[in-house]
Amino acid sequence: MVSSHSAHVLVASNRGPVSYEVGEDGSLNAKRGGGGLVSGLSAIGPDAGALWVCSALSDGDREAVRRGVGEDGVRMLAIPADVHADAYNGIANSVLWFVHHLLYQTPLEPAFDAEFRRQWASYETYNRAFAQALAEEAAEGAAVLVQDYHLCLVPGMLRELRPDLRIAHFSHTPWAPVDYFTMLPDDIRTQLLEGMLGADRVAFLTWRWATAFQRCADELDPERYLSMWPSGAPRAIQHRQGKELLRTTYIGVHGLGADADFLHARSHEADVEERMTALREEIGEGRRTIVRVDRTELSKNIVRGLLAYRHLLDTRPEWRERVVHVAFAYPSRQDLAVYRDYTAEVQRLAEEINSQYGTPGWSPVVLHVKDDFARSLAAYRLADVALVNPIRDGMNLVAKEMPVVSDEGCALVLSREAGAWEELRRDALVVNPYDVVETADALHEALTMPPDERAERTKRLATAATALPPAQWFLDQLNALNELTGR
Ligand code: G6P
Repeated sequence: MVSSHSAHVLVASNRGPVSYEVGEDGSLNAKRGGGGLVSGLSAIGPDAGALWVCSALSDGDREAVRRGVGEDGVRMLAIPADVHADAYNGIANSVLWFVHHLLYQTPLEPAFDAEFRRQWASYETYNRAFAQALAEEAAEGAAVLVQDYHLCLVPGMLRELRPDLRIAHFSHTPWAPVDYFTMLPDDIRTQLLEGMLGADRVAFLTWRWATAFQRCADELDPERYLSMWPSGAPRAIQHRQGKELLRTTYIGVHGLGADADFLHARSHEADVEERMTALREEIGEGRRTIVRVDRTELSKNIVRGLLAYRHLLDTRPEWRERVVHVAFAYPSRQDLAVYRDYTAEVQRLAEEINSQYGTPGWSPVVLHVKDDFARSLAAYRLADVALVNPIRDGMNLVAKEMPVVSDEGCALVLSREAGAWEELRRDALVVNPYDVVETADALHEALTMPPDERAERTKRLATAATALPPAQWFLDQLNALNELTGR
Protein backbone atom coordinates (compact mmCIF):
# COMPACT_ATOMS: atom_id res chain seq x y z
CA MET A 1 0.00 0.00 0.00
CA VAL A 2 1.20 3.51 -0.79
CA SER A 3 1.84 5.41 2.41
CA SER A 4 -0.50 8.34 2.85
CA HIS A 5 1.06 10.12 5.86
CA SER A 6 -2.11 12.17 6.14
CA ALA A 7 -4.00 11.13 9.29
CA HIS A 8 -3.83 13.47 12.30
CA VAL A 9 -5.67 11.34 14.86
CA LEU A 10 -5.28 7.58 14.68
CA VAL A 11 -6.99 4.91 16.73
CA ALA A 12 -5.69 1.34 16.72
CA SER A 13 -7.66 -1.59 18.09
CA ASN A 14 -8.10 -5.26 17.36
CA ARG A 15 -11.86 -4.97 16.80
CA GLY A 16 -12.87 -2.12 14.54
CA PRO A 17 -16.09 -0.13 14.16
CA VAL A 18 -17.38 -2.25 11.27
CA SER A 19 -17.51 -5.93 10.34
CA TYR A 20 -18.54 -7.75 7.15
CA GLU A 21 -20.47 -10.85 6.30
CA VAL A 22 -20.67 -12.50 2.91
CA GLY A 23 -24.35 -12.89 2.00
CA GLU A 24 -25.80 -15.89 0.16
CA ASP A 25 -25.62 -14.00 -3.14
CA GLY A 26 -21.95 -13.24 -2.53
CA SER A 27 -22.52 -9.60 -1.60
CA LEU A 28 -20.88 -8.08 1.46
CA ASN A 29 -23.03 -6.79 4.30
CA ALA A 30 -21.48 -4.26 6.65
CA LYS A 31 -22.44 -4.15 10.32
CA ARG A 32 -21.50 -1.15 12.45
CA GLY A 33 -20.66 -1.32 16.14
CA GLY A 34 -20.96 1.21 18.95
CA GLY A 35 -18.99 2.02 22.07
CA GLY A 36 -16.84 4.77 23.52
CA LEU A 37 -14.36 5.06 20.66
CA VAL A 38 -17.10 5.36 18.05
CA SER A 39 -18.74 8.21 20.02
CA GLY A 40 -15.36 9.85 20.57
CA LEU A 41 -14.39 9.82 16.92
CA SER A 42 -17.76 11.17 15.83
CA ALA A 43 -17.32 13.98 18.38
CA ILE A 44 -14.13 15.21 16.75
CA GLY A 45 -15.98 15.46 13.45
CA PRO A 46 -15.33 14.28 9.90
CA ASP A 47 -12.70 16.93 9.13
CA ALA A 48 -10.32 16.03 11.94
CA GLY A 49 -8.32 13.67 9.73
CA ALA A 50 -9.10 10.64 11.84
CA LEU A 51 -8.25 7.08 10.87
CA TRP A 52 -9.16 3.87 12.69
CA VAL A 53 -6.76 0.99 12.10
CA CYS A 54 -8.19 -2.41 13.05
CA SER A 55 -7.78 -6.07 12.22
CA ALA A 56 -9.89 -8.19 9.92
CA LEU A 57 -11.47 -10.70 12.31
CA SER A 58 -13.64 -12.91 10.14
CA ASP A 59 -13.60 -14.39 6.66
CA GLY A 60 -16.10 -11.70 5.67
CA ASP A 61 -13.70 -8.99 6.86
CA ARG A 62 -10.82 -10.55 4.95
CA GLU A 63 -12.97 -10.76 1.85
CA ALA A 64 -13.83 -7.06 2.20
CA VAL A 65 -10.14 -6.18 2.36
CA ARG A 66 -9.45 -8.39 -0.66
CA ARG A 67 -12.20 -6.70 -2.68
CA GLY A 68 -11.05 -3.27 -1.56
CA VAL A 69 -14.41 -2.63 0.14
CA GLY A 70 -14.17 -0.36 3.15
CA GLU A 71 -15.42 2.67 5.00
CA ASP A 72 -13.92 6.13 4.95
CA GLY A 73 -11.71 6.58 7.95
CA VAL A 74 -11.15 2.88 8.56
CA ARG A 75 -8.18 0.78 7.50
CA MET A 76 -8.66 -2.91 8.13
CA LEU A 77 -5.54 -5.07 8.20
CA ALA A 78 -5.80 -8.47 6.54
CA ILE A 79 -3.54 -10.22 9.00
CA PRO A 80 -3.37 -13.93 8.03
CA ALA A 81 -6.06 -15.91 9.88
CA ASP A 82 -3.58 -18.26 11.59
CA VAL A 83 -1.39 -15.42 12.84
CA HIS A 84 -4.45 -13.58 14.11
CA ALA A 85 -5.78 -16.70 15.85
CA ASP A 86 -2.47 -17.23 17.69
CA ALA A 87 -2.25 -13.59 18.71
CA TYR A 88 -5.91 -13.08 19.64
CA ASN A 89 -7.05 -16.45 20.99
CA GLY A 90 -3.67 -17.78 22.05
CA ILE A 91 -1.93 -14.80 23.63
CA ALA A 92 -4.41 -11.94 24.13
CA ASN A 93 -7.40 -13.94 25.35
CA SER A 94 -5.73 -17.01 26.88
CA VAL A 95 -2.71 -15.39 28.52
CA LEU A 96 -2.96 -11.61 28.91
CA TRP A 97 -6.70 -11.60 29.69
CA PHE A 98 -6.13 -14.40 32.22
CA VAL A 99 -3.22 -12.58 33.87
CA HIS A 100 -5.07 -9.28 34.26
CA HIS A 101 -8.28 -10.94 35.53
CA LEU A 102 -6.53 -13.50 37.79
CA LEU A 103 -8.21 -16.43 36.07
CA TYR A 104 -5.64 -19.22 36.17
CA GLN A 105 -6.19 -22.43 38.11
CA THR A 106 -2.55 -22.32 39.15
CA PRO A 107 -1.88 -25.97 40.11
CA LEU A 108 -2.01 -26.78 36.39
CA GLU A 109 -1.71 -23.53 34.50
CA PRO A 110 -0.14 -21.49 33.06
CA ALA A 111 2.65 -23.56 31.53
CA PHE A 112 4.78 -21.40 29.27
CA ASP A 113 5.95 -24.04 26.82
CA ALA A 114 7.13 -24.21 23.21
CA GLU A 115 3.57 -23.71 21.95
CA PHE A 116 3.35 -20.50 23.96
CA ARG A 117 6.60 -19.28 22.39
CA ARG A 118 5.28 -20.07 18.91
CA GLN A 119 2.10 -18.09 19.60
CA TRP A 120 4.09 -15.24 21.08
CA ALA A 121 5.96 -14.89 17.79
CA SER A 122 2.56 -14.40 16.09
CA TYR A 123 1.62 -11.78 18.70
CA GLU A 124 4.78 -9.90 17.73
CA THR A 125 4.00 -10.22 14.01
CA TYR A 126 0.44 -9.01 14.57
CA ASN A 127 1.61 -6.02 16.65
CA ARG A 128 4.24 -5.20 14.01
CA ALA A 129 1.57 -5.15 11.28
CA PHE A 130 -0.30 -2.48 13.27
CA ALA A 131 2.84 -0.45 13.96
CA GLN A 132 3.76 -0.47 10.27
CA ALA A 133 0.28 0.55 9.11
CA LEU A 134 0.16 3.38 11.67
CA ALA A 135 3.62 4.55 10.62
CA GLU A 136 2.46 4.65 7.00
CA GLU A 137 -0.75 6.52 7.69
CA ALA A 138 0.22 9.09 10.33
CA ALA A 139 0.95 12.70 9.43
CA GLU A 140 3.98 14.41 11.02
CA GLY A 141 3.38 14.82 14.76
CA ALA A 142 -0.02 13.01 14.67
CA ALA A 143 -1.68 11.64 17.81
CA VAL A 144 -2.01 7.84 17.93
CA LEU A 145 -4.32 6.17 20.47
CA VAL A 146 -3.53 2.47 20.84
CA GLN A 147 -6.12 0.29 22.58
CA ASP A 148 -5.80 -2.58 24.99
CA TYR A 149 -3.88 -5.76 25.73
CA HIS A 150 -3.97 -6.97 22.15
CA LEU A 151 -1.59 -4.20 21.14
CA CYS A 152 0.88 -3.81 24.02
CA LEU A 153 3.93 -3.93 21.77
CA VAL A 154 2.68 -1.33 19.28
CA PRO A 155 3.78 1.85 21.12
CA GLY A 156 7.41 0.71 21.33
CA MET A 157 7.51 -0.55 17.73
CA LEU A 158 5.84 2.60 16.43
CA ARG A 159 8.20 4.92 18.30
CA GLU A 160 11.15 3.22 16.57
CA LEU A 161 9.53 3.77 13.19
CA ARG A 162 8.16 7.27 13.83
CA PRO A 163 9.72 9.12 16.78
CA ASP A 164 7.82 12.28 15.76
CA LEU A 165 4.40 10.87 16.76
CA ARG A 166 2.54 11.38 20.03
CA ILE A 167 1.57 7.94 21.23
CA ALA A 168 -0.95 6.91 23.89
CA HIS A 169 -1.94 3.46 25.11
CA PHE A 170 -5.25 2.82 26.87
CA SER A 171 -6.11 -0.37 28.81
CA HIS A 172 -9.80 -1.26 28.99
CA THR A 173 -9.02 -4.13 31.37
CA PRO A 174 -7.69 -4.25 34.90
CA TRP A 175 -3.93 -4.51 35.33
CA ALA A 176 -2.51 -7.50 37.22
CA PRO A 177 -0.95 -7.20 40.67
CA VAL A 178 2.86 -7.55 40.63
CA ASP A 179 2.94 -11.08 42.09
CA TYR A 180 0.54 -12.33 39.44
CA PHE A 181 2.18 -10.46 36.56
CA THR A 182 5.55 -11.96 37.44
CA MET A 183 4.18 -15.40 36.52
CA LEU A 184 4.95 -14.39 32.94
CA PRO A 185 8.44 -15.32 31.73
CA ASP A 186 10.91 -12.50 32.46
CA ASP A 187 11.62 -11.62 28.84
CA ILE A 188 7.91 -11.55 27.99
CA ARG A 189 6.91 -9.20 30.79
CA THR A 190 9.85 -6.94 29.95
CA GLN A 191 8.71 -6.85 26.33
CA LEU A 192 5.12 -6.06 27.35
CA LEU A 193 6.05 -3.26 29.72
CA GLU A 194 8.71 -1.77 27.47
CA GLY A 195 6.27 -1.98 24.56
CA MET A 196 3.72 0.07 26.48
CA LEU A 197 6.35 2.44 27.81
CA GLY A 198 7.09 3.30 24.19
CA ALA A 199 4.00 5.51 24.62
CA ASP A 200 4.12 9.11 25.84
CA ARG A 201 1.13 8.35 27.99
CA VAL A 202 -0.42 5.12 29.26
CA ALA A 203 -3.91 5.34 30.71
CA PHE A 204 -6.40 3.16 32.57
CA LEU A 205 -10.03 3.14 33.68
CA THR A 206 -9.25 3.52 37.39
CA TRP A 207 -6.39 4.52 39.69
CA ARG A 208 -6.24 1.00 41.01
CA TRP A 209 -5.21 -0.40 37.61
CA ALA A 210 -2.85 2.52 36.95
CA THR A 211 -1.08 1.89 40.25
CA ALA A 212 -0.81 -1.84 39.53
CA PHE A 213 0.83 -1.05 36.20
CA GLN A 214 3.29 1.35 37.77
CA ARG A 215 4.25 -1.21 40.41
CA CYS A 216 4.93 -3.78 37.67
CA ALA A 217 7.07 -1.22 35.83
CA ASP A 218 8.97 -0.63 39.09
CA GLU A 219 10.18 -4.23 38.83
CA LEU A 220 11.99 -3.40 35.59
CA ASP A 221 15.57 -2.10 35.71
CA PRO A 222 15.44 0.79 38.26
CA GLU A 223 18.53 2.34 36.66
CA ARG A 224 16.58 2.79 33.44
CA TYR A 225 13.00 3.33 34.61
CA LEU A 226 12.30 5.61 37.52
CA SER A 227 8.75 5.86 38.87
CA MET A 228 7.48 9.26 39.94
CA TRP A 229 4.55 9.48 42.36
CA PRO A 230 4.29 13.24 42.93
CA SER A 231 1.23 14.50 44.74
CA GLY A 232 -0.62 17.08 42.70
CA ALA A 233 1.21 16.35 39.43
CA PRO A 234 0.70 13.51 37.01
CA ARG A 235 2.36 10.24 37.87
CA ALA A 236 5.02 9.20 35.43
CA ILE A 237 7.84 6.84 34.61
CA GLN A 238 11.09 8.47 33.63
CA HIS A 239 13.37 6.77 31.12
CA ARG A 240 16.98 7.34 32.17
CA GLN A 241 20.50 6.62 31.07
CA GLY A 242 22.77 7.17 34.02
CA LYS A 243 21.88 10.64 35.29
CA GLU A 244 20.38 11.74 31.99
CA LEU A 245 16.60 11.92 31.54
CA LEU A 246 15.82 10.56 28.08
CA ARG A 247 12.05 10.99 28.12
CA THR A 248 8.94 10.45 30.24
CA THR A 249 5.87 8.24 30.01
CA TYR A 250 2.95 9.84 31.85
CA ILE A 251 0.24 7.82 33.59
CA GLY A 252 -3.42 8.83 33.31
CA VAL A 253 -6.88 7.70 34.36
CA HIS A 254 -10.13 8.18 32.45
CA GLY A 255 -13.18 6.49 33.96
CA LEU A 256 -15.48 5.84 31.02
CA GLY A 257 -19.10 6.66 31.90
CA ALA A 258 -22.48 5.70 30.48
CA ASP A 259 -24.02 7.64 27.60
CA ALA A 260 -27.22 8.96 29.21
CA ASP A 261 -28.70 10.68 26.14
CA PHE A 262 -28.24 7.67 23.93
CA LEU A 263 -29.55 5.24 26.56
CA HIS A 264 -32.64 7.28 27.40
CA ALA A 265 -33.60 7.64 23.75
CA ARG A 266 -32.77 4.10 22.67
CA SER A 267 -34.48 2.42 25.62
CA HIS A 268 -37.81 4.06 24.74
CA GLU A 269 -37.98 2.87 21.16
CA ALA A 270 -40.75 0.53 20.05
CA ASP A 271 -38.63 -2.64 19.88
CA VAL A 272 -37.65 -2.21 23.54
CA GLU A 273 -41.30 -1.75 24.56
CA GLU A 274 -42.13 -4.97 22.70
CA ARG A 275 -39.38 -6.85 24.50
CA MET A 276 -40.68 -5.52 27.82
CA THR A 277 -44.10 -6.99 27.15
CA ALA A 278 -42.57 -10.37 26.32
CA LEU A 279 -40.31 -10.32 29.36
CA ARG A 280 -43.17 -9.39 31.70
CA GLU A 281 -44.94 -12.48 30.40
CA GLU A 282 -41.95 -14.67 31.20
CA ILE A 283 -41.46 -13.15 34.64
CA GLY A 284 -45.09 -13.28 35.72
CA GLU A 285 -47.38 -10.79 37.39
CA GLY A 286 -46.18 -8.96 40.50
CA ARG A 287 -42.77 -10.57 40.87
CA ARG A 288 -39.53 -8.79 41.70
CA THR A 289 -36.56 -9.05 39.32
CA ILE A 290 -32.85 -9.51 39.83
CA VAL A 291 -31.28 -8.64 36.48
CA ARG A 292 -27.82 -9.31 35.12
CA VAL A 293 -26.58 -8.74 31.56
CA ASP A 294 -23.12 -9.91 30.57
CA ARG A 295 -21.05 -11.27 27.82
CA THR A 296 -20.26 -14.78 29.03
CA GLU A 297 -16.69 -14.08 30.01
CA LEU A 298 -14.96 -16.12 32.68
CA SER A 299 -14.38 -12.95 34.67
CA LYS A 300 -18.09 -12.07 34.92
CA ASN A 301 -18.77 -14.61 37.68
CA ILE A 302 -22.19 -15.65 36.41
CA VAL A 303 -21.95 -19.08 38.05
CA ARG A 304 -21.39 -17.69 41.56
CA GLY A 305 -24.23 -15.25 40.86
CA LEU A 306 -26.52 -18.24 40.27
CA LEU A 307 -25.16 -19.99 43.37
CA ALA A 308 -25.93 -16.90 45.44
CA TYR A 309 -29.45 -16.80 44.03
CA ARG A 310 -29.92 -20.48 44.87
CA HIS A 311 -28.69 -19.80 48.41
CA LEU A 312 -31.25 -17.00 48.69
CA LEU A 313 -34.09 -19.33 47.66
CA ASP A 314 -32.72 -22.01 49.99
CA THR A 315 -32.38 -19.91 53.11
CA ARG A 316 -35.22 -17.42 52.61
CA PRO A 317 -38.14 -19.45 51.31
CA GLU A 318 -40.36 -16.37 51.47
CA TRP A 319 -38.82 -15.32 48.13
CA ARG A 320 -39.95 -18.46 46.31
CA GLU A 321 -42.56 -17.62 43.64
CA ARG A 322 -41.98 -13.92 44.36
CA VAL A 323 -38.71 -13.23 42.55
CA VAL A 324 -37.14 -14.06 39.17
CA HIS A 325 -33.46 -13.93 38.28
CA VAL A 326 -33.32 -12.56 34.73
CA ALA A 327 -29.88 -13.51 33.46
CA PHE A 328 -28.67 -12.61 29.98
CA ALA A 329 -25.38 -14.30 29.22
CA TYR A 330 -24.34 -13.60 25.67
CA PRO A 331 -21.74 -15.84 24.01
CA SER A 332 -18.23 -14.49 23.77
CA ARG A 333 -14.97 -15.89 22.37
CA GLN A 334 -16.51 -19.23 21.53
CA ASP A 335 -13.35 -20.37 19.73
CA LEU A 336 -11.93 -21.10 23.18
CA ALA A 337 -12.99 -24.39 24.82
CA VAL A 338 -12.83 -22.94 28.32
CA TYR A 339 -15.39 -20.27 27.32
CA ARG A 340 -17.67 -22.89 25.76
CA ASP A 341 -17.45 -25.01 28.93
CA TYR A 342 -18.23 -22.00 31.10
CA THR A 343 -21.27 -21.12 28.97
CA ALA A 344 -22.46 -24.73 29.33
CA GLU A 345 -22.03 -24.59 33.11
CA VAL A 346 -24.12 -21.41 33.31
CA GLN A 347 -26.90 -23.16 31.38
CA ARG A 348 -26.65 -26.35 33.42
CA LEU A 349 -26.87 -24.52 36.74
CA ALA A 350 -29.79 -22.35 35.61
CA GLU A 351 -31.69 -25.49 34.58
CA GLU A 352 -30.81 -27.20 37.87
CA ILE A 353 -32.21 -24.27 39.88
CA ASN A 354 -35.34 -24.23 37.73
CA SER A 355 -35.96 -27.94 38.19
CA GLN A 356 -35.19 -27.81 41.92
CA TYR A 357 -37.43 -24.85 42.80
CA GLY A 358 -39.61 -24.12 39.76
CA THR A 359 -43.38 -24.55 39.88
CA PRO A 360 -45.87 -24.75 37.01
CA GLY A 361 -46.36 -20.98 37.11
CA TRP A 362 -42.85 -19.86 38.08
CA SER A 363 -39.39 -20.18 36.50
CA PRO A 364 -36.92 -18.96 39.13
CA VAL A 365 -34.29 -18.22 36.45
CA VAL A 366 -35.02 -16.74 33.04
CA LEU A 367 -31.82 -17.25 31.09
CA HIS A 368 -31.26 -15.93 27.58
CA VAL A 369 -28.08 -16.50 25.63
CA LYS A 370 -28.92 -14.92 22.28
CA ASP A 371 -27.49 -11.42 22.06
CA ASP A 372 -30.31 -8.88 21.72
CA PHE A 373 -29.56 -5.28 22.66
CA ALA A 374 -33.21 -4.18 22.70
CA ARG A 375 -34.04 -7.00 25.13
CA SER A 376 -31.08 -6.02 27.35
CA LEU A 377 -32.48 -2.49 27.58
CA ALA A 378 -35.93 -3.90 28.32
CA ALA A 379 -34.45 -5.89 31.22
CA TYR A 380 -32.63 -2.78 32.48
CA ARG A 381 -35.94 -0.91 32.53
CA LEU A 382 -37.68 -3.67 34.49
CA ALA A 383 -34.86 -4.29 36.99
CA ASP A 384 -35.60 -4.07 40.72
CA VAL A 385 -32.11 -5.31 41.54
CA ALA A 386 -29.02 -5.16 39.32
CA LEU A 387 -26.48 -7.91 39.97
CA VAL A 388 -22.93 -7.06 38.84
CA ASN A 389 -20.48 -9.36 40.61
CA PRO A 390 -17.36 -9.81 38.43
CA ILE A 391 -14.24 -11.49 39.75
CA ARG A 392 -12.39 -8.54 38.27
CA ASP A 393 -13.40 -6.04 35.62
CA GLY A 394 -11.78 -3.00 34.01
CA MET A 395 -14.92 -0.90 34.57
CA ASN A 396 -18.22 -2.74 33.89
CA LEU A 397 -20.57 -0.45 32.05
CA VAL A 398 -23.65 -2.53 32.89
CA ALA A 399 -23.30 -1.32 36.50
CA LYS A 400 -23.40 2.23 35.18
CA GLU A 401 -26.15 1.75 32.60
CA MET A 402 -28.80 0.01 34.72
CA PRO A 403 -29.33 2.86 37.21
CA VAL A 404 -29.62 5.28 34.27
CA VAL A 405 -32.22 3.19 32.43
CA SER A 406 -34.30 1.42 35.10
CA ASP A 407 -37.86 2.76 35.20
CA GLU A 408 -38.49 2.51 38.94
CA GLY A 409 -34.88 2.72 40.13
CA CYS A 410 -32.85 -0.37 40.94
CA ALA A 411 -30.74 -1.43 43.88
CA LEU A 412 -27.21 -2.25 42.70
CA VAL A 413 -25.36 -5.26 44.10
CA LEU A 414 -21.79 -4.57 43.00
CA SER A 415 -18.50 -6.43 43.25
CA ARG A 416 -15.71 -4.51 44.91
CA GLU A 417 -13.46 -5.88 42.13
CA ALA A 418 -15.22 -3.99 39.32
CA GLY A 419 -13.60 -0.75 38.22
CA ALA A 420 -17.04 0.87 38.56
CA TRP A 421 -16.80 0.28 42.33
CA GLU A 422 -14.44 3.25 42.61
CA GLU A 423 -17.22 5.63 41.53
CA LEU A 424 -20.38 3.80 42.62
CA ARG A 425 -19.48 2.23 45.96
CA ARG A 426 -21.31 4.76 48.14
CA ASP A 427 -24.75 3.91 46.81
CA ALA A 428 -24.24 0.26 45.85
CA LEU A 429 -24.46 -2.84 48.06
CA VAL A 430 -20.87 -3.95 47.80
CA VAL A 431 -19.89 -7.64 47.77
CA ASN A 432 -16.81 -9.82 47.67
CA PRO A 433 -17.41 -11.71 44.40
CA TYR A 434 -16.12 -14.99 45.82
CA ASP A 435 -18.47 -14.88 48.82
CA VAL A 436 -21.70 -16.53 47.73
CA VAL A 437 -23.40 -16.22 51.14
CA GLU A 438 -22.61 -12.52 51.40
CA THR A 439 -23.90 -12.01 47.85
CA ALA A 440 -27.15 -13.80 48.75
CA ASP A 441 -27.54 -11.54 51.78
CA ALA A 442 -26.92 -8.48 49.61
CA LEU A 443 -29.59 -9.68 47.16
CA HIS A 444 -32.04 -9.97 50.05
CA GLU A 445 -31.14 -6.51 51.29
CA ALA A 446 -31.52 -5.13 47.76
CA LEU A 447 -34.93 -6.78 47.33
CA THR A 448 -36.18 -5.34 50.61
CA MET A 449 -34.73 -1.83 50.25
CA PRO A 450 -37.47 0.75 50.93
CA PRO A 451 -38.67 2.39 47.68
CA ASP A 452 -37.63 5.93 48.72
CA GLU A 453 -34.11 4.85 49.55
CA ARG A 454 -33.87 2.87 46.34
CA ALA A 455 -34.98 5.87 44.28
CA GLU A 456 -32.55 8.20 46.04
CA ARG A 457 -29.63 5.85 45.62
CA THR A 458 -30.47 5.25 41.97
CA LYS A 459 -30.47 8.98 41.30
CA ARG A 460 -27.01 9.36 42.82
CA LEU A 461 -25.74 6.24 41.04
CA ALA A 462 -26.98 7.60 37.70
CA THR A 463 -25.24 10.93 38.32
CA ALA A 464 -21.94 9.25 39.14
CA ALA A 465 -22.34 6.82 36.24
CA THR A 466 -22.73 9.55 33.64
CA ALA A 467 -20.01 11.91 34.91
CA LEU A 468 -17.72 11.20 31.97
CA PRO A 469 -19.73 10.39 28.83
CA PRO A 470 -17.94 8.48 26.05
CA ALA A 471 -17.27 11.44 23.74
CA GLN A 472 -15.73 13.48 26.56
CA TRP A 473 -13.77 10.45 27.75
CA PHE A 474 -12.15 10.24 24.33
CA LEU A 475 -11.57 13.98 23.95
CA ASP A 476 -9.92 14.15 27.39
CA GLN A 477 -7.41 11.52 26.31
CA LEU A 478 -6.69 13.25 23.03
CA ASN A 479 -6.24 16.63 24.73
CA ALA A 480 -4.01 15.20 27.45
CA LEU A 481 -1.79 13.65 24.77
CA ASN A 482 -1.63 16.80 22.66
CA GLU A 483 -0.83 18.96 25.66
CA LEU A 484 2.24 16.97 26.69
CA THR A 485 5.41 18.98 26.55
CA GLY A 486 9.03 17.88 26.90
CA ARG A 487 8.42 14.45 25.47
C1 G6P B 1 -14.06 -6.45 26.81
C2 G6P B 1 -12.96 -5.68 27.44
C3 G6P B 1 -12.15 -4.92 26.42
C4 G6P B 1 -11.79 -5.78 25.24
C5 G6P B 1 -12.97 -6.48 24.69
C6 G6P B 1 -12.54 -7.43 23.59
O1 G6P B 1 -15.07 -5.62 26.41
O2 G6P B 1 -13.44 -4.79 28.41
O3 G6P B 1 -10.99 -4.55 27.10
O4 G6P B 1 -11.15 -5.03 24.24
O5 G6P B 1 -13.58 -7.20 25.72
O6 G6P B 1 -13.60 -8.24 23.26
P1 G6P B 1 -13.56 -9.17 22.00
O7 G6P B 1 -14.95 -9.65 21.79
O8 G6P B 1 -13.08 -8.33 20.87
O9 G6P B 1 -12.63 -10.28 22.33
